[in-house]
Amino acid sequence: MKNYKNVFVFDHPLIKHKVAILRDKKTGMKEFRELVEEITTIMTYESMRDVRLVPVTVETPLEVTTQYKVPEESIAIVPILRAGLGMVNGVHKVFPTARVGHIGMYRDEQTMEPQEYYCKLPDGIENKTVFLVDPMLATGGSACDALDALKKRGCKRIKFMAIIAAPEGVQRVAEAHPDVTVYISTLDRALNENCYILPGLGDAGDRLFGTK
Ligand code: PRP
Ligand code: URA
Repeated sequence: MKNYKNVFVFDHPLIKHKVAILRDKKTGMKEFRELVEEITTIMTYESMRDVRLVPVTVETPLEVTTQYKVPEESIAIVPILRAGLGMVNGVHKVFPTARVGHIGMYRDEQTMEPQEYYCKLPDGIENKTVFLVDPMLATGGSACDALDALKKRGCKRIKFMAIIAAPEGVQRVAEAHPDVTVYISTLDRALNENCYILPGLGDAGDRLFGTK
């Protein structure tokens, strides 16, 4: 795969360790959900590295000092339903005041094209840094459509976080949305004929919610 300036692939031993357990078909729903959350938290540290800080005055027991804070209203998390829901708590663990919007997309199983079925975003979303989250980036159709939907509603600062990605999906998102920073915990080999990621982890939504 080409190198993209706007794509950041994690190469962290702790993420490798957790992703190995996540992929295992013997890993049950509870552990799967916990791992998705933990991996997201680790990714959030890195993806928040450049968020906007504002100076604040703090009085310590010893003196008055100028410190820096992330404005509480400035961050929004937008999970792509359903599987993206599994990542929300992972961001909230480190930034609990982030507002949450939802975008519902499903892949039509015949055409593999994403269909939007729901969109509800926090007020003032256009002025926030938006973290779009979905554990799986396969063909990139869902992510690209969700990014289009956010931009249509005025979002200008968007970051996209996915846990497992196929090269096809990374390329599609990176080229269609060069202004969006993409954070991928693990880059996989390829897509199979049903557009599932290889080696992947199967259907993330089903494994998170026990629907199959
Ligand atoms: C999965 C996944 C992504 C999408 C990725 O969702 O969570 O949203 O597929 O595939 P793409 O890159 O080819 O668009 P799915 O459509 O299975 O819906 P679900 O989250 O409700 O299970
Ligand atoms: N969606 C998933 O949940 N898994 C894949 O491998 C591809 C899309």
